[in-house]
Amino acid sequence: METQDFSLIPRMNCIPRSFDSNAPENFYTPPFITKNGIENVLNNFVNRDSDIYVATYPKSGTTWTISIIEHLLNKAPEQGISTGASNIELCLWLDRTASGENWRSTFLELEKMKSPRFFKSHASVGLIKQPARIIQCIRHPLDTFVSAWHHTRGKTHLFYYNGSWSHFFSEIALSSKYECGDWFDYHEEFLQASEEGKIDALFLRYEDMKKDNAVSAIHKLAEFIGVESYNAEEISTATDFQSMKQKSLVEGHLDREGNLSDVLVSQEVGDKNNPSNAHIRKGIVGDWVNYLSDAELTMWRNYVDTKKDSCPHVVDLFSLDNLLCS
Ligand code: A3P
Repeated sequence: METQDFSLIPRMNCIPRSFDSNAPENFYTPPFITKNGIENVLNNFVNRDSDIYVATYPKSGTTWTISIIEHLLNKAPEQGISTGASNIELCLWLDRTASGENWRSTFLELEKMKSPRFFKSHASVGLIKQPARIIQCIRHPLDTFVSAWHHTRGKTHLFYYNGSWSHFFSEIALSSKYECGDWFDYHEEFLQASEEGKIDALFLRYEDMKKDNAVSAIHKLAEFIGVESYNAEEISTATDFQSMKQKSLVEGHLDREGNLSDVLVSQEVGDKNNPSNAHIRKGIVGDWVNYLSDAELTMWRNYVDTKKDSCPHVVDLFSLDNLLCS
């Protein structure tokens, strides 16, 4: 029987956050996204200023936001949920495609495609080819880390990681070793670039979207991408958690070839001792209280303390009290 080589660090690639010569090499990507792939995008992809990117720190509501935009653009797949395929008809994960063998032919196909083209990305702001229209859904970091632990443990075929929640929290998330690196720095770079007018971006908060089943977010998204005719209530219902969970369970997710797959499908939501591989898992706000011990909460507050001065835009967006969970 094949033995799996689990280690206590998820298997990932580490590349510079941007290709500025001073950029520190501390940006982590899943094994299938490579430095060559990112360079292919920056050097060979013919971008358009109408290109739309859902560019997020993983586990922040990417799939939900993608689904809303697919409905606004009348591009929702007939069956299954898009999670970043290579198929150009779906929301394409550009960096992933660019890291694969067939990137040249896909780039040529993309050149023939009608605008607006629509991509998923987890790249840092310095690695997204500009100009573009960037949509970022941001979620409270502690709920993001809980979701990330399930994601990393649940996808052993990718990450080969078998650490406990506590290990993940202190040694991966708070050590900037999760995908996209440090949660604060990742968002600070986008928020600052937007304020300085270097990128055209729309920021959404997962917690705000949960309050009204994303109705306000749907209006903001429609305005941002220039869609005038749409039914916000219908899109909200089609993309709410229950609808997406049900769709996931019944139809599955579209894999990178555009085929339906049940790899990311599960009824189980898991808990701090039992990871779940469900991509549409629990979908609630504040579940971190069921994961962090008192000692971990203290560790978190000390961590926020070390980041708050260098990340003022993140602190503005969330408020220090909210970040500190006080
Ligand atoms: P949980 O693991 O906390 O349940 P991403 O798409 O960025 O990978 O984020 C995945 C997280 O978003 C998961 O969080 C998932 O359950 C949640 N999610 C997916 N679709 C959702 C929806 N329609 N409404 C609310 N949360 C959703």
